[in-house]
Amino acid sequence: MSCVVASSDKKTVDLTSVYQFIATELDQVNSLLQKQLAHENPYINEVVQYCCQLGGKRLRPVLVLLTAKALGLVRQEHILIATALEMIHTGSLIHDDILDGARFRRHLETVNLRWDSHTAVLAGDLLLIQAMKMITQCKDIQVYQNISEACFSTCEGELRQIAFQSHFDMTDDDYFKVIGGKTAALLKCCCQLGAYFSNASEKTIALFENFGFALGIGFQMIDDILDLIGNENETGKTLGTDLLNHKPTLPLIHYLKNASTERRKEMLSLVQQQTLERQTISIIRDILKKSGSIQYAREKARSFMESALHLIKEQLQGPSFNSEQKEAFNAFSNIISFIILRKK
Ligand code: IPE
Ligand code: IPE
Ligand code: MG
Ligand code: MG
Repeated sequence: MSCVVASSDKKTVDLTSVYQFIATELDQVNSLLQKQLAHENPYINEVVQYCCQLGGKRLRPVLVLLTAKALGLVRQEHILIATALEMIHTGSLIHDDILDGARFRRHLETVNLRWDSHTAVLAGDLLLIQAMKMITQCKDIQVYQNISEACFSTCEGELRQIAFQSHFDMTDDDYFKVIGGKTAALLKCCCQLGAYFSNASEKTIALFENFGFALGIGFQMIDDILDLIGNENETGKTLGTDLLNHKPTLPLIHYLKNASTERRKEMLSLVQQQTLERQTISIIRDILKKSGSIQYAREKARSFMESALHLIKEQLQGPSFNSEQKEAFNAFSNIISFIILRKK
């Protein structure tokens, strides 16, 4: 069950019970990850081991494994896919940190800071290609296709975001296209393949796909809130990069759409500054908080995720559900609460 604990100012939900529920399978994922990344060359070995050490939330493997448990069966393919998807995710983070000029990730220096961008580009590529190589072990073109599509969408989403840099007339729809690509596509793929390898019906796979996508949208919406008002000691990564790089996200888009002409002008004069000083960032943050735009984005994220989970519950849960399947659904609810209140 979800564990609600008091934190500095607001409640948070932790994921301990979720990790415990799938502890055996997560251990297998971590061992496979270590095995896949061992390299005879000391430099390559050091870099790739550094990239994948513990510290991330392991959300992608968790989603593959919980989907499998919710459908009653964890197979070896789930472990393989969960590992590959975590490698792809980590590769995308290494590249993302170059794009954002970030200095910290998972409480450590980013690869581009500790080494340089050359090493970071190649280490990200190496993780991605190694994951693709692993996937061929499934000998299933459908799986290869789903994962390639997710990777394509991730790059497309990041590119769309660059295209909207400094475009403060970006709409909600534009924003959802960006985050649907850069984040939700991979989370969708986790649930899709989790269900696929549990031999689920097409209809059930589609329900899980939809849930994974909605979870990804909600996850990135909250991530964008954290980028504005989070704490770097808690997230363990560089924050504030969206404003610094003139990348509009939902709270700002919502504010600009709903503010009076005068307030809108004022806000534009702040966010359009070439170099944003600390004090300016703090003013922007306060306006977004006070106007309710942050709360608007948080509630929207919650409703996306909860409706998608509700849909699966409605269609799947019944008297034949065993206790492990019920626990898997509790774990999904726990993850949603965690995401909404997360500080890391
Ligand atoms: C960070 O993902 C990138 C986004 C999609 C927002 P996570 O917050 O899941 O990163 P780790 O794996 O826990 O480090
Ligand atoms: C990056 O989004 C998502 C991908 C990794 C493709 P962000 O730039 O918001 O992720 P963080 O905040 O750096 O983790
Ligand atoms: Mg980033
Ligand atoms: Mg972010």
